[in-house]
Amino acid sequence: MSVFDEERARTYDSGARTYMAGYESLHDMARDGLAAYIEPQRNARVLLLGVGTGYEGEQLQQRFPAWQLIGVDPSEPMLSVARQRLKGVDLRLGVLDDFDDLVDLDGVLSVGVLHHLPSREQQPVLIQSIGRRLRPGGAVLVGCQVGPYREGSARLKALQARWRHQGMAAEEIEERARLFLTQTLPPTREQLDEWYRSAGLSSPEPLFSTAYFQLLAAHKV
Ligand SMILES: C[S@@+](CC[C@H](N)C(=O)[O-])C[C@H]1O[C@@H](n2cnc3c(N)ncnc32)[C@H](O)[C@@H]1O
Repeated sequence: MSVFDEERARTYDSGARTYMAGYESLHDMARDGLAAYIEPQRNARVLLLGVGTGYEGEQLQQRFPAWQLIGVDPSEPMLSVARQRLKGVDLRLGVLDDFDDLVDLDGVLSVGVLHHLPSREQQPVLIQSIGRRLRPGGAVLVGCQVGPYREGSARLKALQARWRHQGMAAEEIEERARLFLTQTLPPTREQLDEWYRSAGLSSPEPLFSTAYFQLLAAHKV
């Protein structure tokens, strides 16, 4: 699992765009996707699970000022950047299971979390927890990597070329590629469907995707 320590938090905002083509487009689509389920004027409660340094909070706050945003993240350094960036967002250190009051939510947005969980077994557990916290009709938008990566694939080589072009040192390129090859990437479409079904969620619908990253939308049935 990658570590979201102080160094990572300090460089995250530029790094996310360097490492992953389409980062901002995915977040643009996440905003539109949430608005497909939740009326902009409603005093809706929307959880940003794995809020990180707060980019999505800032974007949502600007566009939907009536929504009450709650951000949860287990990394204090990431949350500390989010605190400076976001005013009026309820930011909490921890994971979802730490907060019993986060129920009857109108929406959950979780970008970049699923593939950072330490094991594949924890992925359906997270989807289950999200399902339990939503009100019927509530929306869940999950952004995660598309797996798996294959050594020597054009997909990985193109990323490495991108990183090289952005000035990343050779050893970091190698380390990062190794991480991509060993990360707990999301499973097949069939498994995802099964996880969502058993969490009481509709079948996840792709809202945005590149060869690297996907955004899936569903609602609590
Ligand atoms: C790749 S960052 C994504 C941050 C932000 N959502 C974004 O799109 O820029 C992943 C974040 O997920 C957090 N995270 C890791 N495990 C988590 C968990 N079990 N629950 C919630 N957040 C978690 C990390 O601390 C990190 O801040």
